Formats: sequence, C-alpha cells, structure tokens
Amino acid sequence: MLRAVAIIISPRNKNIITRTTPYTTPANIMLFSRNALFAAAAALVAASSGSAFAPTSTSVGNSVSRSSPAVIQQQSQSRQYSSTKLNMAGPAKVDLTGKVAFVAGVADSTGYGWAIARALASAGATIIVGTWPPVLKIFEMGLKKGSFDEDSVLPDGSKMVIEKVYPLDAVFDCPADVPDEIKNNKRYAGLDGFTIEEVAAAVKADYGKIDILVHSLANGPEVTKPLLETSRKGYLAASSASAYSAVSLLQKFGPIMNPGSNMLSLTYIASEKVIPGYGGGMSSAKAQLESDTRTLAFEAGRKWNVRVNTISAGPLKSRAASAIGKEPGQKTFIEYAIDYSNANAPLAQDLYNDDVGNSALFLCSGLARTVTGVTLYVDNGLHAMGMALDSAAMSGSMKPTTPPPVPVAKTPVAL
Ligand SMILES: NC(=O)c1ccc[n+]([C@@H]2O[C@H](COP(=O)([O-])OP(=O)(O)OC[C@H]3O[C@@H](n4cnc5c(N)ncnc54)[C@H](O)[C@@H]3O)[C@@H](O)[C@H]2O)c1
Repeated sequence: MLRAVAIIISPRNKNIITRTTPYTTPANIMLFSRNALFAAAAALVAASSGSAFAPTSTSVGNSVSRSSPAVIQQQSQSRQYSSTKLNMAGPAKVDLTGKVAFVAGVADSTGYGWAIARALASAGATIIVGTWPPVLKIFEMGLKKGSFDEDSVLPDGSKMVIEKVYPLDAVFDCPADVPDEIKNNKRYAGLDGFTIEEVAAAVKADYGKIDILVHSLANGPEVTKPLLETSRKGYLAASSASAYSAVSLLQKFGPIMNPGSNMLSLTYIASEKVIPGYGGGMSSAKAQLESDTRTLAFEAGRKWNVRVNTISAGPLKSRAASAIGKEPGQKTFIEYAIDYSNANAPLAQDLYNDDVGNSALFLCSGLARTVTGVTLYVDNGLHAMGMALDSAAMSGSMKPTTPPPVPVAKTPVAL
C-alpha cells in the first residue's frame, strides 16, 4: 500500500518529525533524531537497486503493493500506532455479491442508469430502481414483454434482474410537497409513496440497508432556451430536478447506507464549458451537482463513512438527450454533440453507455474505497481540449491524424 510520509524538520529542537497519513492524534507522530533517520534512509537507498525515485515493489500473489523505502522504515517502527494496514486480497476483483444498489432514473435501456445497473449486476449486486411516474407504466410493460431482454444480458450469459421498481419523483421530498395538480394528474393515478422520503422508507422496509446509491436523472423544462431567455421558474425547476434531487436523495438514503458505501451521480461538461443548446439552467444545475459532490463527500464521509462521486459523461443518444432540440429535418442537440466529440476528442471512438457503466462499477466498488469528491471524466477526453480540430480556422495547419481503429465489443468488460 502506498502511504505518504511528511518529514518536518523542526528548527527549534532539531528533531525530525515523520508522520504517515492519516494522522489524527499525537500518538501517530513519531520523533527521531536527525542522524538516526538519515542513517536508516541511507541504508535503505543503498539496499535498493532501483532509481531513487522509483518505488520498490513487493509481490503478494498476483497483486503488487508499492511503497517507498522511507515508508517501509516508518511502517516497521510505527506499526503499533498504525491502523491503516490494507489486507491485499489477491488480484483486483470486483465482487458486489450481497450488496444492494438503488439506481434512480431508469426507464428504458438506452441511458446511463441502465448501463450502470447492468455493470453493478454483472458484479453480483442486487438491483432495485427508482422510476419517474410518468414513464413507469411503459417501463414496467417493457420489462414484462421482454423488450429489454437483449440489453439485460450479462457477460456470463445470465440476465440482469431488476428486483423491484419504485415509483420515484425526485422533485418531491415528502408527501406535503406534492401539489394537487400532481395528485390529480392521470399519469400519477393510483400511485402514492413516490416522494424521496417515502421511497427511502420503502427501501428500508424491503432491504434494510443499501450499499450503492445512483442518481442518474435530470430534467429541465426550458432546456432548449438560452440562459438569457430562461424564466426563473424554468431555471429553478432544472436545479430542483437535476441538482437538489441528488442532495435530497443522499439526505434521505444516507441513514440506510452501510458504512463504506457510496453515491454516484452523472454530470455533463456544460457545467464548466459553454455548450450552446444545453440551456434552461441545465448547465447551472450540473455545476451545482459537481460542487455539491465535493461538499457532500465531506459531510457524508464524516457522518456515515459514505463516498460521493460524479461521472462527467460524454454525449449519448439516450431518450432524455434525444428530446433536446428536436426540430423536424434537423440534427438534434445530442447528434451535434456526438459528431463534435468524434471530430474533436482525443479518442476518436464511439462512446457507449457501458463505458460509463464500467467506470461506475469501479467507483462504486471497493477498488475506489479512498476515492471521494471527484468528478471523473468518461468522455473520450473531450474535456481536455481547448481548440476544435474541425474548426474552419484550423484548416491547413493542424490536421487531425487518423488513428488506427480499435475493436469495440458492446458488452461490459468482464472483471
Ligand atoms: N445522455 C448524455 O449525453 C448525457 C451526458 C452527460 C450526462 N448525462 C446525465 O446522465 C443522467 C441520465 O440521463 P440519460 O441521458 O442517461 O437519460 P435517461 O433518459 O436514461 O435518464 C434520465 C432519467 O431521468 C428521469 N427523470 C426525469 N425527471 C425525473 C424526476 N423528477 N424524478 C425521477 N426521475 C426523473 C427520466 O424518467 C429518465 O429515466 C442525467 O443526469 C443526464 O444529465 C447524460
């Protein structure tokens, strides 16, 4: 395991203080005389055949743990104080058997929520989902008719089972928030218990605790309008459905999340770069979501030992994305976005929802046990670009090179 060591030379007493992370109490701080430490370091450097900067490797079965010589020295002297020893369990393997994953925002097999559910299922997780009431019936009918069977196949040939579908409207936190207009809406007829608080209570009654919470939903009623033309109502609706919904989900599900569990959401590069066409306050909502990811990572980490991360995903022709800017006879917003990415991203290859599913699997697994508060780009690297290769202004100067084709199998990577 890799551990950071800070060496602080105290000018007053000429002692060297070394400490390994994490340090929380004075008991973790060890004092050595300067000469003793230098002698030990010199002996270790002499014994090492590699570069002074290269870590040494210690093989444990198939896995390799690396630590710097100074850390090895520090570990042996401070073991009695250290509680950070990680048990190496052989080759990296994701096994989510016995874990329960609640994925909010699944209503068909074209989107990111489905692919994340499938990747988690491929590692053995029990999958339950939250579905927006207006599309609940059609989703349940599709499941019953087997419309998603092909997209349910897991790498071992079995099919993903969605154990339970909960109606969920993530703009309502508790029953008192639901207005009469919604109560009387025929798309909500016969449904109750779809507010976040009630869904969390139902999941608790059914499963006790969960281990993975996925927020894969967004909604902005004025998404096609530029920000300059967006109404207050539209802007706040985008924030409510696409950003606060994540805060509320964690508020309500946090108490039923096992320590060491995690939450993951989906964001988009429009949070930090201008993406014309992604309007109505949706870019603002994604910026909120990313900022909240960091704050929630801190708060939920300290409160429940829960990790919080977000994936900034590349453009995908999901149902939600296809509905943005649909003019007859013209490309949709998402078609422009996909073509732009193919022309300009560092990796000129198609992006599948499974690509995000596989990255989500890593973030939601124990492999990422120390990863929290991050925005992980899964977008063929488009976020890194500062110039558009296919711009007319670039013609004749920096021609994009044509990379060799990479074979792609549209199935989750077997781990
Ligand atoms: N498709 C893309 O190009 C892209 C890129 C980056 C990020 N994302 C993000 O990925 C996430 C999933 O979107 P997707 O593109 O896979 O589409 P999707 O259609 O599969 O998922 C969006 C889901 O949100 C649900 N939803 C909308 N309002 C809701 C509400 N009030 N309560 C509960 N559910 C509600 C919809 O029913 C739908 O199931 C979203 O956060 C989206 O912004 C998408």
